[in-house]
Amino acid sequence: MLADLLAWANMAARWLHVIAGIAWIGSSFYFMWLDASLRAGPDTPKGVQGDLWAVHGGGFYHKRKYLSVPPDMPAELHWFKWEAYTTWLSGILLLTLIYYAGASVYLIDPAKLALTPWQAIGIGAGFLAGGWLVYDTLCRLLAHRVRLFAVVWFAVLVAAAFGLTHIFSNRGAFIHMGALIGTAMVGNVFLVIIPNQRRIVAAMLKGEPVDPALGKKGKLRSVHNNYMTLAVLFLMVSNHYPIVTDHPLNWLLIAGIGLSGAVIRHFFNEKNAGRKNPMILVNGIALFVGVMFFALITTPKPAEAGVTPASFPEVQAMIGKHCTACHSATPTHRGFTAPPNGVAYDTPEQIRTYAPRIYQRAVANHSMPLGNETGMTDEERARLGAWIKAGAQ
Ligand code: HEC
Repeated sequence: MLADLLAWANMAARWLHVIAGIAWIGSSFYFMWLDASLRAGPDTPKGVQGDLWAVHGGGFYHKRKYLSVPPDMPAELHWFKWEAYTTWLSGILLLTLIYYAGASVYLIDPAKLALTPWQAIGIGAGFLAGGWLVYDTLCRLLAHRVRLFAVVWFAVLVAAAFGLTHIFSNRGAFIHMGALIGTAMVGNVFLVIIPNQRRIVAAMLKGEPVDPALGKKGKLRSVHNNYMTLAVLFLMVSNHYPIVTDHPLNWLLIAGIGLSGAVIRHFFNEKNAGRKNPMILVNGIALFVGVMFFALITTPKPAEAGVTPASFPEVQAMIGKHCTACHSATPTHRGFTAPPNGVAYDTPEQIRTYAPRIYQRAVANHSMPLGNETGMTDEERARLGAWIKAGAQ
């Protein structure tokens, strides 16, 4: 009953997280595009950055960006913040429900570091808080050195990826990497962009001069967020592709793919501002393809080469020892009430049917058994792999 309830909470939080994330990223892309698309002409009044006309949903929109006090302050002003806050809050809830409540399965990899659940949770939370502190300090120190900031922050992120992938299970590391960057992005909204906007509005209402630095700082943080978006999206869905998460140089792949996302965003930002440079897009995509080839040629040789295949009874014993606590119609593992992804290995037929997928997850990479609590050895994996490669008879 409790496990079912948790599974529902988990599903609801994930649903909310995706919905809020889409709303946030959608509005972030829209405002980046809008800012870059505003055009000023001879008739543009002073204090106005530019105007934009658009057509959508059967009507015409006229947007205008005021850099200082609009002639009269509107009675109703829309703020964009709950998309970001909801994304973060639901994300933290998910992180807690899955990775912290289930730390021994999802977060800890005893082959890397034999942490206790509380140690792992402490380290994870420390990375998230530390990430924001480092990011915010760098923003302040390098406020006027945009390029240097980008290089240093990127180096910090690569170091974090290296650290996390050597501390946590692979998927735990990827999720924390996404959460670290996502926390910096929400921190920007909560601690810089929105408070600065409040100060601007308050000054305007009092008829006092507005410090233009306030708006500029906010805008810079929102530009940072824009460049980090694609990397976060990639990291957040990464547990669907163990070819990346379980690669031995996964931290380097994170760096390359994250950078390619930023370069691709840069192409669109430049294009929207009227500076179309297809070479930027080509570079971004080339970087991604380069990462892919690098990953392919550095993937270790199959473990089962030259190994004697296990016999079928041995295979059954291995699956019984390492898998069916979860992958069964009646799982016995705490927290599981149904076979994960509907995949059960209770019968010989099921084991044979799923053999290629078993190979993927327990031999080609080591993403199963999840958390490897039963200590499946490399030798067992190799012999299981040899059995599957020999036709799974
Ligand atoms: C602690 C529980 C647990 C154990 C033990 C476990 N798994 Fe899994 N397995 C999961 C979960 C949860 C998922 C779904 C999430 C995912 O795909 O990563 C999953 C997914 C899979 C998938 C992907 C299914 C699909 O959709 O194609 C395969 C294959 C798999 N496991 C194989 C194995 C094998 C082989 C073993 C034993 C060597 C094993 N698992 C042990 C929990 C477990």
